[in-house]
Amino acid sequence: MNLDELSAGDVVVRVAYSSLNYKDARAVTGQGRPIMRRTPLNAGIDLAGVVESSADPRFTPGMRVIANGMGLGEAHDGGFAEFARLPGDWLMPLAGTLTLRSAMAFGTAGYTAALCVHRMEINGQRHDMGPIVVTGATGGVGSIAVRLLAARGYQVIAVSGRPEHHAWLRDLGASDVRTVEQLGLGDKPLERTRFGGAIDNVGGTLLAQLLPHIVEWGNVASVGLAGGAEFATSVYPFILRGVSLLGASSANSPMPLRREIWRRLGDDLNVADIERFVTKEIGLDQVVPTAIALLDRQLVGRAIVRP
Ligand SMILES: NC(=O)c1ccc[n+]([C@@H]2O[C@H](COP(=O)([O-])OP(=O)(O)OC[C@H]3O[C@@H](n4cnc5c(N)ncnc54)[C@H](OP(=O)(O)O)[C@@H]3O)[C@@H](O)[C@H]2O)c1
Repeated sequence: MNLDELSAGDVVVRVAYSSLNYKDARAVTGQGRPIMRRTPLNAGIDLAGVVESSADPRFTPGMRVIANGMGLGEAHDGGFAEFARLPGDWLMPLAGTLTLRSAMAFGTAGYTAALCVHRMEINGQRHDMGPIVVTGATGGVGSIAVRLLAARGYQVIAVSGRPEHHAWLRDLGASDVRTVEQLGLGDKPLERTRFGGAIDNVGGTLLAQLLPHIVEWGNVASVGLAGGAEFATSVYPFILRGVSLLGASSANSPMPLRREIWRRLGDDLNVADIERFVTKEIGLDQVVPTAIALLDRQLVGRAIVRP
């Protein structure tokens, strides 16, 4: 595409990095519910780059900026390209200690993990309520959630179907790593309380089985559907234990919340060792095979894309 063919916007950004998220993998392989709402379209739901030109007075050439969600890579040309053109209202200047690269090492996955921690804490999550379960723990959201929670002093139980990566998860700060089977979850409407809360990337039966084990006033952030979109539960954990099920939606987070989370990622939620999550740096030609590997559960951590 030429610049004038890109989706409309008042700021042109030279993309330094984007990242490969579950949604991108679905978009570029066409698996599941369609992600891209039109073609041709550049995929890539997040990007970090440098302002090339701007008709918006808030942005001047040379400024380092990031964007995630807002329909990027779904309805608006996204980050898997050398340039993106987007409305200034969607852009944020890089905050705190973030670099263009570390911003996309976090990317949508890190943003979403941080959003979960933020929502849980403003809803009263405390260390003394017990360990936090992170499901789909080797994935982008899961692995960063493990690290963020551990860095904030929580005990973390990482749940992963891949025992070969359990040592890596312990290294990131998980105090315990288990397969779903090793968790030994029950199937009654209320079970013995064992967990302070959860960040759930998997959905389906696993989410349904976690809720009855959450302590009074604990929080469960529902992030993903890697294992299934539907789940059946009872209201008992909510009405008898005050458990909260919190939504975490990165694509359409309101701008003030988005700025707050990125500010925190550049500041108090910034884990200094973010490079440990970057298991792959790829060019555009490697996006599709890497997406297939992600969907086949062959990746761990984060793949960043350098257009
Ligand atoms: N709500 C939002 O705004 C938002 C933002 C980003 C992502 N998400 C969602 O969050 C989830 C994780 O995204 P991601 O980018 O971190 O993806 P990812 O890197 O592919 O991680 C997903 C992890 O889930 C586990 N998993 C995969 N397939 C599974 C299955 N069939 N059954 C059970 N577990 C399975 C795997 O962990 P183990 O092998 O370790 O078990 C995998 O590493 C996705 O569902 C994605 O759509 C939502």
